[in-house]
Amino acid sequence: MNRTKIVAGNWKMNKTFDEGLELAQQITNKAKNASCKVVMASPYIHLHALRQVIGKSDTVFLAAQNCHHETKGAYTGEISVEMLKSIGVDYVLVGHSERRAYNQEDHKMLAKKVNLVLQAGLKVIFCCGEPLTVRQDNAHIQHVKRQLRESLFHLYESEFDRVVIAYEPVWAIGTGETASPEQAQEMHKAIRRMVENSYSEACAQATTLLYGGSCKPSNAKELFSQPDVDGGLIGGASLKADDFMAIINSI
Ligand code: 13P
Repeated sequence: MNRTKIVAGNWKMNKTFDEGLELAQQITNKAKNASCKVVMASPYIHLHALRQVIGKSDTVFLAAQNCHHETKGAYTGEISVEMLKSIGVDYVLVGHSERRAYNQEDHKMLAKKVNLVLQAGLKVIFCCGEPLTVRQDNAHIQHVKRQLRESLFHLYESEFDRVVIAYEPVWAIGTGETASPEQAQEMHKAIRRMVENSYSEACAQATTLLYGGSCKPSNAKELFSQPDVDGGLIGGASLKADDFMAIINSI
């Protein structure tokens, strides 16, 4: 199956404006001929400048790490999807475990964000994944199933071609502990089955599933070689152009 392959870098709360610009310039130049789509999810303050750096590209794309769940109004300090759209953002990350944990983002709020992103014509990278205790209880697949059912599976099948799902086990994020290729494949296969059961086999086969959690140059190739792993969502290793490029070139 020729699914779209994606390697996305989530910079999280890193890089001053100048540092971010330099990183984006390096990645845009080096990734010109990448064999997958490359996405940079920078902090909000970089997005407008990064749009100019990337220009029009079929390979390199721009993502926001979050958006607000209401369309506009008295929400001091927040950023709406329409604002992101107005500066040419392509993707929005929704449901990252750090936002679920530190900003109390629940299933209902995430469903609202997904709806707004898709209504604006943008694409969503929806993050899911279980904490360590849930995996220890062997309830990881049920946990992810609930996350998808509550925030994503209300969509129409026709909207699903603008949905990317990123599986990020919480215990593997920023810890240096990666899911084994077998653990990643088990979950990705299960997620694809969930999409098939909610929509269709064709929809499931066409949906891009990314793995995230301590993915680095040394383990990317093995992870990406799993049949249901279509790329990665990279945190720490996306902050250095050479490491990020090595991961991109592992696909
Ligand atoms: P690390 O690659 O730093 O573990 O982060 C993964 C992640 O959370 C990407 O969204």
